[in-house]
Amino acid sequence: MTINKVGILGSGIMGSGIAEVAATAGATVIVRSRSEATADGMIVGLEKLLAKQVERGKKTQDEADAIRSRVSATTLLEDLADCDLIIESVVEDLDVKKALFAELDRHIKADAIFATNTSTLPVVEMAVQTARPERVCGVHFFNPAPAMSLVEIVRPLTASDETIKEVVEFALACGKEPVEVKDQAGFIVNALLFPYLNNAIRLLEQQVATKEGIDTAMKGGCGFPMGPFALLDLVGLDTSLAILEALYAEFGDHNFTPAPLLKRMVAAGQLGRKSGHGFYDYRK
Ligand SMILES: NC(=O)c1ccc[n+]([C@@H]2O[C@H](COP(=O)([O-])OP(=O)(O)OC[C@H]3O[C@@H](n4cnc5c(N)ncnc54)[C@H](O)[C@@H]3O)[C@@H](O)[C@H]2O)c1
Repeated sequence: MTINKVGILGSGIMGSGIAEVAATAGATVIVRSRSEATADGMIVGLEKLLAKQVERGKKTQDEADAIRSRVSATTLLEDLADCDLIIESVVEDLDVKKALFAELDRHIKADAIFATNTSTLPVVEMAVQTARPERVCGVHFFNPAPAMSLVEIVRPLTASDETIKEVVEFALACGKEPVEVKDQAGFIVNALLFPYLNNAIRLLEQQVATKEGIDTAMKGGCGFPMGPFALLDLVGLDTSLAILEALYAEFGDHNFTPAPLLKRMVAAGQLGRKSGHGFYDYRK
């Protein structure tokens, strides 16, 4: 099957970014958001982004118009019925995702592939909510999706070779570099990255250095493009906490026990860039 029409669930940081990637690759994209306001907001955000790219000479006006014309938004799951591929990118919560997969199965054509953009959660548990577990896998984009080349293709025990092949081809068509990985919490990148991010918060708690000092040290000392606190703010502190909790639940390793400061900041609504305030303040 060729993937021509892509349905995306969730219009947050990742859902919006993946919509831009798929539309840029030539697919027709429909994003399902829970409210009219967030659906409209996603379209306005895309228009602004495309206008900036034209202004900077990265795209012609015609290219931008063509991408914009391929993206629409809806609040109704039924509107995604004829999609070839569904990419679920809602909140990192297994119960929410499982309920959504069960509902999807009732609305979307029988041979469509369902993929989840989960960062850590067991894909097989979503797959078995459907009557097509062989057509379910993970397709883990990185943030920001248009800029990051990696896509982890997560193979649950239930997925068919054909499903994985089609999703790998889709990732390649999007100009990405797919890497296949087993359905194990954190896959490759987050299993390695999150102990580092969590331990950076612990260093801050122990007042070993300031957050600015730690960020500067990891950029200058390791050649990382951004330090751990800037990265946590970009990922979202609520998403980061959910990732650590899922990793801890799978492995029981102390490196994954979320640092208390992270939990307190999430409780305070300090979620990073998306809320305007996290380790750094973005409201100015
Ligand atoms: N932020 C990152 O760096 C990153 C990177 C790769 C993958 N992911 C994964 O992508 C997914 C989305 O993360 P995000 O960063 O875009 O988060 P976000 O907070 O920006 O967006 C979450 C989206 O989920 C929707 N949502 C919230 N509760 C819901 C519910 N009960 N039912 C249906 N929709 C609901 C929200 O309306 C929003 O559209 C998560 O699974 C996350 O782990 C995140």
